[in-house]
Amino acid sequence: MEHLKIRGGARGLQGKITVPGDKSISHRAIILGALADGVTEISGYLRSEDCQRTLEAVRALGIDVEGGDPLRIHGKGLHGLREAGDILDCGNSGTTIRLLAGVLAGQPFLSILTGDASLRRRPMDRVVIPLKQMGAEMWGRAWDTLPPLVVRGGRLRGLRYHSPVASAQVKSAILLAGLFAEGRTTVIEPARSRDHTERLLKACGQVLETDGREVTLVPAGALRTNRISVSGDFSSAAFFLVAGLILPDSDLTIEGVGVNPTRTGLLDVLQAMGGVVEVQQEEESGGEPRARLRVRTSCLKGVSIGGDLIPRLIDEIPALAVAAACAEGKTIIQDAAELRVKESDRIRAIATALNQMGVRTEELEDGLIIHGCGSLRGASYESRGDHRMAMAFTVAGLRADNETTVLDTACIQTSFPGFVQTLQDLFPGSVEQKV
Ligand code: S3P
Repeated sequence: MEHLKIRGGARGLQGKITVPGDKSISHRAIILGALADGVTEISGYLRSEDCQRTLEAVRALGIDVEGGDPLRIHGKGLHGLREAGDILDCGNSGTTIRLLAGVLAGQPFLSILTGDASLRRRPMDRVVIPLKQMGAEMWGRAWDTLPPLVVRGGRLRGLRYHSPVASAQVKSAILLAGLFAEGRTTVIEPARSRDHTERLLKACGQVLETDGREVTLVPAGALRTNRISVSGDFSSAAFFLVAGLILPDSDLTIEGVGVNPTRTGLLDVLQAMGGVVEVQQEEESGGEPRARLRVRTSCLKGVSIGGDLIPRLIDEIPALAVAAACAEGKTIIQDAAELRVKESDRIRAIATALNQMGVRTEELEDGLIIHGCGSLRGASYESRGDHRMAMAFTVAGLRADNETTVLDTACIQTSFPGFVQTLQDLFPGSVEQKV
């Protein structure tokens, strides 16, 4: 099993780095490129296993894609997809399966979507229910709640849907289906989730009306794209932000990071904890803001978080937990029950990993309490295939006072190929990769 051996006691995280392209935007760019008329060039897109699944799926649906950077997608228009000859394997990627379910709900043919063992445990009723209400026929395992999913698309009608969860994947599936529906499609969320789909749809000439937690797509015919430039993934930068804060003598700059406010809740929290993180040189590219982030070693204090903030940092909670463990006082995370249905049950996983490193935690139904203690004990930790857990606890290992082993690290490829290399460049000799 691939694993990392991390020497503890690292210090002096210095210099300038970049992180790979944003995963959420890369998936969406590929999908919208496939549905657009003509060629879409996507530069800076994330070459990771998750995005490769989306790319292979659109290929299987009859779209030509030329690899390289920029990636060139030969879109065939809204009605140009054709039935795939086989099951579409979405691997570990929730974004692939849920967003494609939305697109396929609008296609007059049969599709079957599945994924790896982790994905086949993740809830799909959250997309099956609204897409059926729009007129698609759908089935799944366990009474239509789990993959594999079978979709027989068809004529759809617009929907006004109150989503029970704040989920960009659910919202996006419904809006993408809305492209094929008659009339307007509205999604109302309990809290606002990331809005990359809305921004990209707008850039493609669609009409989106946003009012607080409510967003409406008014279909406007063909999608027009030509170039999409993808910023660095804030969720990948998060591991280095936390490393910069908790490792002594650090001063690190991360260039070209996407700072869409629906994604940057971690910045607000780290700053509230006393972290010195500066957002510099903000600019806009393709409807998405990007910036340079500078982080320096800081004394952190525990905080309490919950409510509408949670969807803005949901993927960053493993990294935040590591910062909280190194902070003074306790950190309380609530309203985050969604963590239980991510690539792993991240509430349980964080509590287990921190306990192994000598940090006291209390698991809540919808979050956890972390009793920051400032010091971490080296441990052996198994990611169980969850990429963000593997990366967060690699960072924790750097701060620990002796060696840490993180087992099952091949999963890091799903979102951040180059993570280990970046660390090795910053800390020669500190991280050893073993197969
Ligand atoms: C994503 C949305 C979030 C996030 C996931 C990527 C997306 O999931 O956790 O990593 O690209 O839309 P939910 O929509 O399930 O909250």
